[in-house]
Amino acid sequence: MIVKISTTSLKPGMYVTNPGLNPHANKGIFLAESEIKDHNEIDAIVGGNFTVTFIDTELGSYFADKPQIKAEIEKLYTLFAEVKYGEEKKRASFDVIIAGLGTAEQQYSRILSQYKSAISKISNNNPLDIAACEDLVRQLIDQHESISLAMTILTQLKRFDDYSYTHSLNVSILATAFGKHLDLGSEELMTLGMAGLFHDIGTIKIPDKILRKPGKLTPGEMAEIQKHPVYGSDLLSRYSRISADVLKIVNEHHEKFMGGGYPKNKYGDKINSKSYMVGIVDTYDSVRSDRVYRKGVNAHKAVSLIFNSRNISYPAFLVDSFVKYIGVYPIGSIVELKNGLKAIVVEQFSDSLLHPIVRVMLDENNRYCEPADVNLFDMSLRSDEYDIVRCLDKSECRLRLKAYLNRTRRQ
Ligand SMILES: [Fe+2]
Ligand SMILES: [Fe+2]
Repeated sequence: MIVKISTTSLKPGMYVTNPGLNPHANKGIFLAESEIKDHNEIDAIVGGNFTVTFIDTELGSYFADKPQIKAEIEKLYTLFAEVKYGEEKKRASFDVIIAGLGTAEQQYSRILSQYKSAISKISNNNPLDIAACEDLVRQLIDQHESISLAMTILTQLKRFDDYSYTHSLNVSILATAFGKHLDLGSEELMTLGMAGLFHDIGTIKIPDKILRKPGKLTPGEMAEIQKHPVYGSDLLSRYSRISADVLKIVNEHHEKFMGGGYPKNKYGDKINSKSYMVGIVDTYDSVRSDRVYRKGVNAHKAVSLIFNSRNISYPAFLVDSFVKYIGVYPIGSIVELKNGLKAIVVEQFSDSLLHPIVRVMLDENNRYCEPADVNLFDMSLRSDEYDIVRCLDKSECRLRLKAYLNRTRRQ
C-alpha cells in the first residue's frame, strides 16, 4: 500500500515511491524510487527542503520484520477511508461574517468572562462550575452560522496575556464549529465543546516556572508537561456530570495516529476520532499564538503544518475535512499575489481551495487602493499573474486585519 508520510518520519529500510506525480509541479514532495539506506540519506532529504514523500509498505526491508505494524497501518488506512461524515457545506461569505462580527465580539467577551469565573473557582479550592461551562458550550452550539464563523476569525485576534483562557475557549469554538461542519449531532458537539474547554485543565497542576519557561525545557520538565492530559482527566473524573467521552478526549488529545504521542503512546483506531478533532484544532490554535518561547505563525502556515501531519499525527480524512472547513488560505488571511498586489481572502470554495475570492487592498507599492474582489479561480484560467505566492505574517504588512474589519464596519 502506498502511504504519504512526512520526510522526518522516514526510517532506513522504507521504500520511497512516486505514485505518478510530476516532480517539477510538486516541489517539497520527495519523489523517487529507492530504498532508504541510512540516516544520512534521510538527513539529506529533510535538509533538501522536502517535507513529505510516499512509501510503499510492500517494498523495502523496514516492514519485512514488522508485519504487525504494517498490517495495522494498512488496516487503519482502509478503516479511515471508509468512515463517512456528512457532506461539507458551503460556507458564508466574508461580508456575511463581517456583518455578524459585532455580535460575535460581544458574545466572545461574555463567554470568556463566564469561563474565567467558572475556572477561577478551582484555584480557590472550590469545585468547578460544570453547569456554567455546559451552558456556555450550548451558547456556542446554538449560535447562527455567521456568528460562529465570525468567532473563528476572532480566535486569530486574541491577546497574549490571556493565553490559557483564550486558548481553551478557542479550542472549544473551533472544535464545535468543526463538528458542525461534519454534521455531528448535538450530543457529540457538546462533548467536543466541553473537551475543548477542559483539554489543558491539567496544566494547573504544573508549576508556572515550567509552563512559562522561555528557554528549552529539560527532559524532566518536559516529562512534567506531558503529564497534563492525565492530571486533567483525573481531576475531571471527580465530576459525575463530565461524560466518559470528555475524559477520554482530555486524556488523548496529544496521542498521535502513527504513535509517538503521550501519555500512553496509543495509535490509530485506539484513539477516539473526537480526540483527533480536538488535537487538530488544539495544534491549529496553539501554533498561531505568540508564546514566551516562540512567535505564532500565520493561519496558512498553521494549516500547512497540520496538512503535513496527515496520517502521521491525525488520520487523513479528518485532516482533509479540517482543511476544507478552514481553507488552505483561511478567510481573513492576507495574501500576496504574483503581480505584487496584497489582498484579504474573503470567500473560498471547497473544490478549489488554492483559488479563493480575494479583496485587493494594497497595490504593488503597498499603497491602499480601491477595494476590489477578484475570483482567483477565474483569473487562473487566463494567466498566472494572480496566483498566490505567499501568505503574509501580521508583522510584514501594514494592512491590519482588525483595523480593516473596523473600517469595513464603519462603511
Ligand atoms: Fe494539551
Ligand atoms: Fe492546548
